[in-house]
Amino acid sequence: MDINWYPGHMTGARRKMQEDIKLCDVVIELLDARIPGSSKNPDLDDLIGNKKRLIILNKADMADSAVTEKWVNYYESKGIKVLTMDSRVRKQTLKVTAAVKEVCKEKIERDRRRGIAARPIKAMVAGIPNVGKSTFINSFVGKTSAKTGNKPGVTRGNQWIRISKDINLLDTPGILWPKFDNQQIGLNLSFIGSINDNILEMTEVAGEFISFLKDNYCNILAERYMIKDVDDVFQIMEEIAIAKKCVKKGGEPDIEKACILLLDDFRSGKLGRISLETPQED
Ligand code: G4P
Repeated sequence: MDINWYPGHMTGARRKMQEDIKLCDVVIELLDARIPGSSKNPDLDDLIGNKKRLIILNKADMADSAVTEKWVNYYESKGIKVLTMDSRVRKQTLKVTAAVKEVCKEKIERDRRRGIAARPIKAMVAGIPNVGKSTFINSFVGKTSAKTGNKPGVTRGNQWIRISKDINLLDTPGILWPKFDNQQIGLNLSFIGSINDNILEMTEVAGEFISFLKDNYCNILAERYMIKDVDDVFQIMEEIAIAKKCVKKGGEPDIEKACILLLDDFRSGKLGRISLETPQED
């Protein structure tokens, strides 16, 4: 299965982001805490230039907290400030404000030395589709403020949202396209549902996901679907079909339906907290 394409409209999105970054002091980069490596687009490093960066491991409520801690240590060892978040929770202003101010402390200090009255820090949010950009922005404002969709064509003129007296946030997030540097990245993105399922071979994706669970979270297969000591992936699919009552006319297990339900269970958090990637030291 080959998952790799780059939609033409992303060229426009990239240009827009380049313009927006010029207006900002800091870029808040949202990554999916379950796949921080695969949800990152290294192009952002070029786009950011010498601007400051804050990483948010979003959807941390769905990730394995022990693995998330490893990611936090990994980024901190590189001197990058990182926060873990569930962006659906409102009123996390203090936490975000403190982190942004820490990242921008040199600018704040410089302004102070020059006798410039404290100007609010200007921040923008960036990340791949579905990582939670709108949810993050909306957590500081009313529900409708940051609805831009993932189509760069429908973005409105820039507006600033005052999230605290010290920080203004651009209401339009920067949309990055994931970087399909290897097949595993494509798979990780499809596991979490960031790639349109219509173009995927769902049984193949589910097969890879089952192999991952077998190796890393075998207790989940046992607890959720009562599957123990089964090694063969297809046999596990059959057992999931039986556990989920996915049966075709004639009594045969409906493997395709079972695969879709398994991935749905994962994506909706019913399988519990799962991380798909650990940091690789480079
Ligand atoms: P985007 O702007 O980056 O494209 O992402 P968006 O905010 O639209 O969020 C995509 C989905 O992820 C939404 O769910 C949203 O509720 C969910 N989400 C965002 N942040 C978090 C988080 O920190 N934790 C969890 N568990 N979920 C998060 P949806 O089902 O597509 O929409 P909805 O039914 O929630 O409105």
